[in-house]
Amino acid sequence: MQQIKKVVLAYSGGVDTSVCIPYLQNEYGIPEVVTFVADLGQGENLEDIRQKALNSGATEAVIGNLLDDFVERYAFPAIRANALYGDKYPLSTALARPLIAENLVHVARKLGADAVAHGCTGKGNDQVRFDLAINALGPDLKIITPAREWNMSREEAILYGEKFGIPAPVSKKSPYSIDVNLLGRSVEAGLLEDAMQEPNEDVFAMTASIDDAPNSSQDVEIVFENGFPISIGNEFLTPAKIIQKANVLAGEHGFGRIDMIEDRVVGIKSREIYEAPGLLLLIKAHKELESITLNPEILDFKNTVEKKWGQLVYQGFWFGPLKKALDAFIESTQTSVNGKVKIRLHKGNAIVIGRSSDKNSLYREDLATYSKKDIFNHKHAEGFIYMWGMSNKIWAESNLKNK
Ligand code: ARG
Repeated sequence: MQQIKKVVLAYSGGVDTSVCIPYLQNEYGIPEVVTFVADLGQGENLEDIRQKALNSGATEAVIGNLLDDFVERYAFPAIRANALYGDKYPLSTALARPLIAENLVHVARKLGADAVAHGCTGKGNDQVRFDLAINALGPDLKIITPAREWNMSREEAILYGEKFGIPAPVSKKSPYSIDVNLLGRSVEAGLLEDAMQEPNEDVFAMTASIDDAPNSSQDVEIVFENGFPISIGNEFLTPAKIIQKANVLAGEHGFGRIDMIEDRVVGIKSREIYEAPGLLLLIKAHKELESITLNPEILDFKNTVEKKWGQLVYQGFWFGPLKKALDAFIESTQTSVNGKVKIRLHKGNAIVIGRSSDKNSLYREDLATYSKKDIFNHKHAEGFIYMWGMSNKIWAESNLKNK
């Protein structure tokens, strides 16, 4: 193997990625380890994490402010796609991976590194997403995955780190495996591995429990332009602020929790708890607005596209050709998704109570009404039904004869 001189490591500040630093230096003999930590709105002090990387032996530590990119180029397209993996999971973790990978490649190019690295294990989806995205953007870059190869238990990894001055975690580690960003939280492992075990309240951080949610409901109006949310609760905001506000509003009312059995890329079923209040609220509102602005053939076909889009993103194909082609289809549908949706938040529910589109509504009261104002010509129904039901009638008559 050609000797690697410089590697850029996706770094979170946790023990595992910290141990990766001396491991890359000593076991792989790579002299320069640059860490990259991404700001995705996870609410951590990134300067502290940067220092931690340097204290763990990193030769350089880079922070990437990716929040706006994350929302505009990843979350908003997912809203347009109404993307829900397994009909439930809005991909809050999955969407972050190709963006981090994109930046790993970018930093590697800028600093003249010949490899990138991440601390994913060999069992999850994130390794797949990182590797596929890196291969798509920097096929010449070597990908190093220490945690997939080192065969150390967590305790052994901590001992290994201590030899190189990486302190063992002081606080008792959370019993769960958690991933957080602005879009939501993924929680797995620990007690949750019993699929029948209800999650304790300590699992949640963005959403109130149904019991703690206010007794009175709250109505919120969401405005969309070209399928992108631009205003929530009568405030026009930047994309990141829209998600933030949607998180607060929906979260307070206990909307946005998901408990599911999920089919991982590696073939394992796993039990996942998510909370993604804002993203789920925005997808719900967006889908509703489409029901009044898109014609039935597009709606029906878009359903199929959405399912596939969600699977592709979940399975790591963000930068693949089919995802790109589906994006073009979605883009062409969204120019008419303009208008607003009214939603009532109450005790874990988000209930649609109204929708309208000044520019693109296909809903015609003069055709839909049962009042005197009706302009629909009822006479034509007879001839239409004569032909519409013809094949069915022929089948029924033949069936009766053969009885
Ligand atoms: N299963 C989820 C996904 O594949 C989340 C995994 C995130 N990692 C974690 N440590 N909880 O998108």
